[in-house]
Amino acid sequence: MSDIAPLDISPLDISMRGEFPLAVLGQGDLAAYIRAHKSEINDALAIAGTVLFRGFDVPAAHDFDAAVSAYDAPGFAYEGSLSNAVRVNITPRVFTANEAPPDVSIYLHHEMAQTPIYPSKLFFYCEIAPGSGGATPLCRSDWVLDALAEKRPELVAAFKAKGVRYSHTMPGAPDAQSGQGRSWRDTLGADTREAAEARLSELGYIWEWQGENLRVTSPVLSAIRKLEDGRQVFFNQLIAAFRGWKDERNAPSKSITFGDGAMIDPADMAVAIEIADEFSFDQNWQAGDVALIDNFIVMHGRRPFTGRRRVLASLVA
Ligand code: FE2
Repeated sequence: MSDIAPLDISPLDISMRGEFPLAVLGQGDLAAYIRAHKSEINDALAIAGTVLFRGFDVPAAHDFDAAVSAYDAPGFAYEGSLSNAVRVNITPRVFTANEAPPDVSIYLHHEMAQTPIYPSKLFFYCEIAPGSGGATPLCRSDWVLDALAEKRPELVAAFKAKGVRYSHTMPGAPDAQSGQGRSWRDTLGADTREAAEARLSELGYIWEWQGENLRVTSPVLSAIRKLEDGRQVFFNQLIAAFRGWKDERNAPSKSITFGDGAMIDPADMAVAIEIADEFSFDQNWQAGDVALIDNFIVMHGRRPFTGRRRVLASLVA
């Protein structure tokens, strides 16, 4: 097809820090492009962790759905996941990225790394670009881990030896004012307390009922992950939990511990946050942009914004 542009990706070199994220500047039908170039896209993604598609003709949610379908990978359904975020499905595989209010920052995280079940990749699509702000910060976790191991080797050793646990309190009914407002009924797909407890028990969580609310603590999860190519990454949700799990039910200081229950020193977290901020790239959205993110390599977040912003997401199992 003549409207498919060649894959315009710079020579790949994982030591080249300036080459992130990689961008394909094209035109025409994105679904056709993805179908024709899947293996080159995957090669680029495996190294850089993010590929942005800009300039293609993606006017609405169903065109995004077609592009995701063209990638031809099994979907990861929000409905069955343990995501904390309130989201709304637009098509069976496309949903709003997070319904939290515009002034709420969503800090860097790997999607659902605070749970035992997480997607391997994410697609984002900008349907409506915000008036101002609203970038998606993207951050390479292999770079973060390398820098953290240099500055705080004992912290990285403790993460490796002990893992981490996350705690948070879920409301009985959805709270769209919070970035962590998904109800326990929706999160756990449970109508009753007994069903919620059965699901938590199966997943290795501990829990405590607090009136209508349910406080849960995850099983021990790893904070560092080894990729197939040998790179190690800061694969977790520590920064988002430590900075952002704050609403009328949750205090960030109580959201994370090492796997043995010991406190993670806030001064150590401050170092990790500073490093991650330094490596962050602000993906400023233009309407029609689609980004494909490897969830094991790159963290993402959301900057506050003004005006209307509509970014949709789709997850790959
Ligand atoms: Fe996310």
